[in-house]
Amino acid sequence: MKEREKQPATPTDLNYHYYGKNRYDKDIVSAIPFHREIHESILKELRRRFRPDQAIRVLELGVGTGLTASLIRAAFPNAEFEVVDFSSTMLAHAKKRLGTKKITYRLGDFSKILFHSPCDAVIAVIGIHHLSHSGKRHLFEKIARLLKPGGIFLFGDLMTCADEKNAAENSALHYHHLVEHTTTRAMLRDWAHHHMFLNNLATVENQEKWLRDAGCTVKRLFSKWNTVLLLATKQ
Ligand SMILES: C[S@@+](CC[C@H](N)C(=O)[O-])C[C@H]1O[C@@H](n2cnc3c(N)ncnc32)[C@H](O)[C@@H]1O
Repeated sequence: MKEREKQPATPTDLNYHYYGKNRYDKDIVSAIPFHREIHESILKELRRRFRPDQAIRVLELGVGTGLTASLIRAAFPNAEFEVVDFSSTMLAHAKKRLGTKKITYRLGDFSKILFHSPCDAVIAVIGIHHLSHSGKRHLFEKIARLLKPGGIFLFGDLMTCADEKNAAENSALHYHHLVEHTTTRAMLRDWAHHHMFLNNLATVENQEKWLRDAGCTVKRLFSKWNTVLLLATKQ
């Protein structure tokens, strides 16, 4: 399937600043199909690899309101976090939720920020699909350089697929889910606009290849419609 190259979305495009934390938390879970399931798979994989008392070093790209990080912290209370978001509103929500212990907040674009501390796990849930495709490739190289040998990148996101008929069906199911699960007309318009014009989905196949090219082995942990969770392990 031919992939169209789009400019990456900015914080102003994404318009998250008007969102209160409670409303955002409710809306993202209903607007993203299988949001709960990918988080369950992320926790299962982390628990399989690390002891609950281990002081793992975790970098989260696109922390949002801190929903994902709070689940990881509950399972790994000694984890050291570095979390990034380019929306100051979102980062403020995350700070309120996660506090200041064992966590560093970075305001900025994760495709541009330089990271230095080697990580046991890099996590990104529903954030990377806004980057251009070349931006995604470069980010995967950066992530692979940051991971300790055997370290993992858990990448949950909206992705399309190489087969055009499957891709079209998955998108139809995704939009149908939005129609069924948004609670107001305004919410449907916002999320449908977001998904139609701001998202820049790459195929799962290409992203698996880019991760392998970056030096990782790759496994699909979850895949239904456009929602996919990839596990990339640094060699
Ligand atoms: C949809 S939220 C997901 C948050 C959380 N993981 C969850 O699933 O609830 C994605 C976040 O990524 C941030 N984001 C998107 N692109 C980014 C970029 N290039 N650099 C930094 N943050 C970015 C957005 O501002 C948003 O807060």
